[in-house]
Amino acid sequence: MLTQEQNELLTRVGQDTPMGDYLRRYWHPVAGVSEFADKPVKPVRLFGEDLVLYKDLSGQFGLIERQCPHRRADLAYGMVEEKGLRCNYHGWCFDHSGACTQQPFEDVARGGKGGRGSVKAKAYPVEVKAGMLWAYMGPQPAPLVPDWAPFGWENGFSQVVISQVPCNWLQCQENSIDPVHFEWMHENWGMRLQGHHGEYSPRHLKLDFDEFDYGFVYRRIKEDTDENHENWTIGRVFLWPNAFFLTEHFEWRVPIDDENTLSVTWKFTRVPREQEPYVQEHIPTWHGPVFDEQGNWITSHVMNQDFLAWAGQGRITDRTRENLGLSDKGIVMVRRRFFDELERVSNGQEPKGLIRDPAANTGVDLPMMTLGMMRDGVTKAQILADPRLRMLFTTYVFQAGQPDDVKAQFEAAMGLEATSFESFSLRAALDNRKSA
Ligand code: FES
Ligand SMILES: [Fe+2]
Repeated sequence: MLTQEQNELLTRVGQDTPMGDYLRRYWHPVAGVSEFADKPVKPVRLFGEDLVLYKDLSGQFGLIERQCPHRRADLAYGMVEEKGLRCNYHGWCFDHSGACTQQPFEDVARGGKGGRGSVKAKAYPVEVKAGMLWAYMGPQPAPLVPDWAPFGWENGFSQVVISQVPCNWLQCQENSIDPVHFEWMHENWGMRLQGHHGEYSPRHLKLDFDEFDYGFVYRRIKEDTDENHENWTIGRVFLWPNAFFLTEHFEWRVPIDDENTLSVTWKFTRVPREQEPYVQEHIPTWHGPVFDEQGNWITSHVMNQDFLAWAGQGRITDRTRENLGLSDKGIVMVRRRFFDELERVSNGQEPKGLIRDPAANTGVDLPMMTLGMMRDGVTKAQILADPRLRMLFTTYVFQAGQPDDVKAQFEAAMGLEATSFESFSLRAALDNRKSA
């Protein structure tokens, strides 16, 4: 349980808030590169600021304030030029550093001696990594975009999935260190949703939580696993400060503002061995809905269930009214770490887990379960013989709404017939994430 003041300190992420300032010191994935193939300008809201992301005709990405510095027109309707983004109202043009490079009428009327130099749009650095665009909104010098090891894996199909979840970022991220919810929300409730009223799934018997350089790890023993299982020997990663890492996928929870979070998933699926060598031409991005056509929460897929849980806690959950248990030990640890980190940064110290040394930023290792499958691959025969693998190699189990074109690309990469999600029980899919 936190005091009102503590809850506000950890959850408020707008400008001039301690947590907003803290989280801005990290790079965050905010869009997929493929989103800019047909539409080069995209409005985004991050940390309470309205911005536009664009790709100009030279291929340079920019992230600048949304309202034009001239008379505040909406740059989401701007046009991209060879270098920069031009406002559609009077044609002022801004490059990726925010510099105003043209003011068409002023330049003529003032004989090229206009006041362009003094006009600047607020701009933030953008980098490309793993098919995603990453933004850095903190003080300079910026750290490096982390080169996590899975980003360099070969012979795989990656996809980026983005959703907007209507609640504060912290309740999303606290889910990254909440092992017991898996048994109840995804396994037991998941089964009930499918109309099965049989036995409950194996119970959690023991939990442990450890901190390491890039975050925290939770480890578990359930009734169906012992201390030799990777669930206990390796565990799952709360990737500091706002991501969940499960070896073949990452989930980032990026603050849009105090009451909304951008969920960004990067999912890697290694192709069956027979499909190697496989080189993916481009990484697709798709937007996953959170509500169905009737406006109800989608509950069919694992992360959709999570979204519902997070938002169900309230737009900004009231942590003064919690009753924490032993299962919440990890949550207490990360909250303490956040308080310590806010203190450290206010004393001018470096935040946890930033990478600044280029030599240390190649294929950065993290604790990884099921690494053998990623490293060695599996054959089609192995996949087809195992309903759980078959589901993972023929469907997208984490979120609803994968578009047909992405499904077709995935199917071609795997060289396997697509299977409908319903053809295998949710339980089969979940067995894979029992460890999740
Ligand atoms: S408002 Fe953008 S150029 Fe005038
Ligand atoms: Fe979950």
